[in-house]
Amino acid sequence: TGLVTLDTGFVNTASCTSEITYIDGDAGILRYRGYPIEQLAQQSSFLEVSYLLLHGELPSTDQLAEFDAAIRHHTLLDEDLKRFFDGFPRDAHPMAVLASAVNALSTFYPDDLNPTDPAGVELSTIRLLAKLPTIAAYAYKKSVGQPLLYPDNSLEFVSNFLRLTFGVPAEKYEVNETARAALDLLLILHADHEQNCSTSAVRTVGSAQANLFASIAAGINALSGPSHGGANQAVLEMLRGIHASGDDVAAFVRKVKNKEAGVRLMGFGHRVYKNYDPRAALVKTMTDDVLTKLGVSDPLLDIAIQLEQVALSDEYFIERKLYPNVDFYTGLIYKALGFPESMFTVLFAIGRLPGWIAQWREMMSDPKLKITRPRQIYTGPTARDYVGIEKR
Ligand code: CMC
Repeated sequence: TGLVTLDTGFVNTASCTSEITYIDGDAGILRYRGYPIEQLAQQSSFLEVSYLLLHGELPSTDQLAEFDAAIRHHTLLDEDLKRFFDGFPRDAHPMAVLASAVNALSTFYPDDLNPTDPAGVELSTIRLLAKLPTIAAYAYKKSVGQPLLYPDNSLEFVSNFLRLTFGVPAEKYEVNETARAALDLLLILHADHEQNCSTSAVRTVGSAQANLFASIAAGINALSGPSHGGANQAVLEMLRGIHASGDDVAAFVRKVKNKEAGVRLMGFGHRVYKNYDPRAALVKTMTDDVLTKLGVSDPLLDIAIQLEQVALSDEYFIERKLYPNVDFYTGLIYKALGFPESMFTVLFAIGRLPGWIAQWREMMSDPKLKITRPRQIYTGPTARDYVGIEKR
């Protein structure tokens, strides 16, 4: 069996080769298919970036129109799946609802699940991209007791989602352009991040030839953890906690440094970035602008800025190379857009979906694909004889 090396948390072990996303963590560089994240954030759209991640090249006008039309065509949920939402408690966490509903999609489309059938994979890809926002909006509607709307396919992707989330049947919903553009940009920033925990989960499950819906549901569950996507919700909870305790930023930082009860500065630190996360830099620049345009003033923004200043000038954070990551400022924008904290990680999931699917497809198209099956170093008892229960 040869020599087995231990690499807890896969700190130094590459699990695959990939052509999708490039990160240089020391230099703070992130590129999708070679394009710098800054250029995509400023000039592209989430659908265009989704196409780029999935197909490797930016789409032509016709290709984008076709992709967009296909997604619009599939936004509806089966009426039976809609009933699913009635089965959850009112206070169900929307990430749990999201993962459950995505898992359930495979029961509605059993004919298209074969991972080696390109037509089925393409259809499942479009269905997922189209239906995830609908599912996300319905999870929110359930939590506030409002009726579910049907998608309006005359609207583009983000507008459709905003209306499904915040619209009510009795009133016409006007899409706010600042909100739409901000959310589109944030989705671009989340669209892929190479072999992070949730993407690795998607690939691991898929490597067993499990179908796309099953693999993506696994990714959503991995993302829900506070060390990963759940951090955006945790950041807001942390900022609220500091505000409630009289805005004592320095006292909170002391607690973090003393590792009191495992308190971490949420939204700080990253396995790969040992420099400012380029996504965080983009979010930070837009936060003030978006809040101003939306007419929102939030005392939590001041706390976040202070917290960052204190942390970045403190030895503890400097020597560990801990910088703000993408989750540090995003929550403040989501909050300003009207989303409750429990929906923050759901928004991350909508953004990450094209990356998960692109990674799953890349893996599936590899003729040398092997099932993910790490080894271990056994540390349990050596061989011993069974003892009957009467003698124990
Ligand atoms: N606050 C305080 N100390 C920290 C933090 C933090 N946020 N992150 C790492 N450290 C310390 C850690 O205690 C350790 O110190 P020591 O050497 O004294 O034991 C050192 O820095 C190295 O940390 P690590 O846990 O070995 O690093 P990791 O690469 O395993 O963890 C991480 C990466 C993202 C899980 C971690 O930085 C963390 O828990 N951050 C807070 C949660 C968070 O913001 N997650 C979002 C990640 S980015 C996007 C995403 O995936 O959603």
